[in-house]
Amino acid sequence: MDSAQSRTRLIAFSSGKGGVGKTFLSLNVAVALAQRGHSVMLFDGDMGLANVHVLLGIHTEKDISDVLAGRCALAQTILKGPAGVRIVPGASGKRDVAELSMLELTRVLQGLGSLVPAADYIVIDTGAGIGTHVTTLAQLSDAIVVVVRDEPASLADAYGLIKVMYQEFGSQRFQIVVNGVSNPVRGNQIFERLQNVAMKFLGLPLELAGVIPQDSNAIAAIGRRDALLTAFPDSVGAMAVRRVAAKLEGLRVDAGSSPFLIDRLDAVSLGAVT
Ligand SMILES: Nc1ncnc2c1ncn2[C@@H]1O[C@H](COP(=O)(O)OP(=O)(O)OP(=O)(O)O)[C@@H](O)[C@H]1O
Ligand SMILES: [Mg+2]
Repeated sequence: MDSAQSRTRLIAFSSGKGGVGKTFLSLNVAVALAQRGHSVMLFDGDMGLANVHVLLGIHTEKDISDVLAGRCALAQTILKGPAGVRIVPGASGKRDVAELSMLELTRVLQGLGSLVPAADYIVIDTGAGIGTHVTTLAQLSDAIVVVVRDEPASLADAYGLIKVMYQEFGSQRFQIVVNGVSNPVRGNQIFERLQNVAMKFLGLPLELAGVIPQDSNAIAAIGRRDALLTAFPDSVGAMAVRRVAAKLEGLRVDAGSSPFLIDRLDAVSLGAVT
């Protein structure tokens, strides 16, 4: 393995629109990567409205806000999730964390990258919207996975996110997951539609990471406070998520991209840090 491939890879799940399946996918792709033998961390980057650990019914007293306030070390916040995924809980309903600066956010991720044992992958649930947190987390990542559903608002917001990340931050590699579709053909049509718009207005090709069917087991897994992949491994949803994980696992990182996250923030955005 060359050094670019052996360093921790960051995969951000984003969407623009809320409620389309970012948390579902980031948790289950993290589990799938762990089941494929990787050391995986799942960072709940939905700042201020964190919910990964709540979804799994894990109680925690320490989160990122305690780390930033100097009350505990980053390692002390880590929770054990399904398949050994190390979960880094965000802080729920805390204003100081909701207002984290880009530099603080970068330091948190840098800290995660230095924890022992080193993670092969840090999967990030960025939360909804195209605010600074989301764009910073996406900018720091090696792959930006954009989750869309078969709804005009979801497609419009996904395009909005891609446009901002491309035009303002130079991101060019977007992996699209079409979630919650009734059949694979429809999923491919949705992807084609988004791809056509991105090509027409930005000249930017997109990649399809996969199509996930609507699967009632996803909700049933939440009832069990578990991931779909561990609660219902043979479900159609779980199989589709595993295919997405296999695709993302194979992505090469940019040979030229720095392992030091701070180097990946461009000068313009760093200038905005106060
Ligand atoms: N493929 C699917 N089949 C069935 N239910 C799904 C599927 N994907 C997601 N869900 C369900 O849809 C709901 C919303 O998903 P999720 O919470 O992951 O969205 P989100 O994008 O993280 O939302 P938010 O923007 O509020 O953070 C959840 O109840 C989740 O279990
Ligand atoms: Mg979410």
